[in-house]
Amino acid sequence: MRRQLSLDVLVGADERRRALCDDVRAGLGGPEKHIPPAWFYDDAGSRLFDEITRLPEYYPTRAERSILASRAADIAIATRADTLVEIGSGTSDKTRILLDAMAAARHLERIVLFDISHEVLADAAETLGRRYDVDVHAVVGDFRHHLGSIPAGGRQLWAFLGGTIGNLLPTARRRFLDRVRQQMGRDAHLLLGTDLVKDVGRLIAAYDDSAGVTAAFNRNVLAVVNRELHAGFDPDAFGHRVRWDPDERWIEMRLRATRAHTVVVADLDLAVDFRAGEEILTEISAKFTPSQVADELAAAGLAPRAAWRDDAGDFQLTLARPGN
Ligand code: SAH
Ligand code: AVI
Repeated sequence: MRRQLSLDVLVGADERRRALCDDVRAGLGGPEKHIPPAWFYDDAGSRLFDEITRLPEYYPTRAERSILASRAADIAIATRADTLVEIGSGTSDKTRILLDAMAAARHLERIVLFDISHEVLADAAETLGRRYDVDVHAVVGDFRHHLGSIPAGGRQLWAFLGGTIGNLLPTARRRFLDRVRQQMGRDAHLLLGTDLVKDVGRLIAAYDDSAGVTAAFNRNVLAVVNRELHAGFDPDAFGHRVRWDPDERWIEMRLRATRAHTVVVADLDLAVDFRAGEEILTEISAKFTPSQVADELAAAGLAPRAAWRDDAGDFQLTLARPGN
């Protein structure tokens, strides 16, 4: 049978522009300046993220990979999933470990990839389509709004890897998990990657690496706003700032104006004043305790079946299914 490769674009050029306009107007128009992290990931930003995953200081990707390497076969057998649905899939690089295990268990029939970054998603879908003899369906969408468009069918294993759930605020996390549970079907599973609370020095280093790659990733969001909304940000007029919030238990990434100046966002007819030292919040990256992961899943009606950590106890993968 001929296998199919299909691509649904829920966030095309017009929707993307509209959403970016809304986010920038809301985020830079008020006193607490912020830009949602979804806008990091244009082509350049996705490449920079890929570089981040190979940095010596950035442990999450290696830690999650090592868990997948030792547990993928168990996951494939326990879930008997024939459809892998990956949210925020990016390059789907680590995901191949899971897909290899599902293929080896002779269950794999279909792959659904969902990401906001069109080009990276299309490349990943093609690569996986060549590697596995299965249907691949890619969806360009925003996981804060479009999970309802993920096709039903098959025995599904949803994967949300990398710790990306930590980039959502607690209320958005709750909404996201609720939506996943509603959409995934009764006999589906969720495989969730979460970064764990640890030594603050290591956390800070992971987001403020010595080669400056994360700083370039952070500043890239300004290049996105410049290009897509004809704004006049000078990325060099902003420093890369990273702090750990011990109460919220999250890393904050900010861009800090090195001098007082005004930036015009031409397409929004908006002039944004910055005081020297004023910051834009560009990302939170929440770190979890194992019991918090279980509690947040349970609050969304998802029952953990198993949880695995890497040898250093840095990162956790949790397999959950609907139920209490
Ligand atoms: N899962 C991969 C990639 C993590 S990087 C890994 O574990 O390495 C985060 C990914 O989520 C990027 O590919 C980015 O494009 C995507 N992403 C970020 N915000 C998103 C949103 N709101 N909706 C859909 N995808 C999003
Ligand atoms: C995608 N996400 C889980 C990354 C993180 O660690 O929060 C994004 C990132 N930001 C800076 N470095 C990596």
